Amino acid sequence: MALVSIKPMLKIAQRDKYAVAAFNPVDYASMKAMIIAAQECDAPVIIQTSAKTIRYYGHETLFSWFEPLAKMVNVPVALHLDHGKDLDMIKRCIDIGWTSVMIDASDKPFEENLRITKEVVSWADTKGVGVEAEIGEIGGVEEDIVVAEEDAHLANPDEAERFCKEIDLGVFAAAIGTAHGYYHGEPDVQFDLIEEINQRTGTPMALHGGTGLDEETIARCIALGCAKVNISTNLKHVFIDSFVDHKKENPNDYEPLSYLKKQFESLKTLFKDKITEFGGQGKGAQMLKEIN
Ligand code: 13P
Repeated sequence: MALVSIKPMLKIAQRDKYAVAAFNPVDYASMKAMIIAAQECDAPVIIQTSAKTIRYYGHETLFSWFEPLAKMVNVPVALHLDHGKDLDMIKRCIDIGWTSVMIDASDKPFEENLRITKEVVSWADTKGVGVEAEIGEIGGVEEDIVVAEEDAHLANPDEAERFCKEIDLGVFAAAIGTAHGYYHGEPDVQFDLIEEINQRTGTPMALHGGTGLDEETIARCIALGCAKVNISTNLKHVFIDSFVDHKKENPNDYEPLSYLKKQFESLKTLFKDKITEFGGQGKGAQMLKEIN
């Protein structure tokens, strides 16, 4: 069975010191390109739907795309909810078949974040669904969630330790200086904080805001305990630019399928590059065997 929860997936990635790439699909073809890229790289992959994408297509449609694609391959594939803030949406993901969900209550006071996350974990546990939660607040723009620079703040390591002691998370999104969207200036990634949180919690960490981080920075974050790297903005740019570039290069082409083919291939190349950069290549079939 290729559909897996992020919980065993990321434990294995963390143990073996690589990260699983997590991409946000925007349509059927981009979702398919992620899963085919993973298969071609023999790598695990996380398909993470944003709340905005779920509102646009609906849970059932997204799951009806995902399930047959995931069953077609023999690498581990997780369907994850990215930055879930609406508890009804989260519940429906769990009921319909998402293999993991993120509850993002990071804008709430710590105790409230802890309480809400515990509640989500209690629903998720009944279905073997893994949970991601965030503390601190990651800056930038992620779909409808906008966190201004002055509101973004780093995770507190004491709170991180307590959070992960009280809750058995699949993956922990602690704010460590990255931001969603392209960076304005040099990203100020707090490597010491990643190391301290990882040592004190032992929970695999998610690196949000993967777009625009250079390879060396990402490699350091993975070595320090990040087992999931999120890429969204980058793929949105490739999605649009590949389409527009095809028109510029072929001004008289009005065959939609040639545009879609170019777009699909460009996306697949991006996904394969990122999967390889994060170290997932060649790990898929072996991980699947270990989980099942
Ligand atoms: P980017 O949009 O910067 O790639 O970040 C994606 C992300 O972290 C989704 O949660």
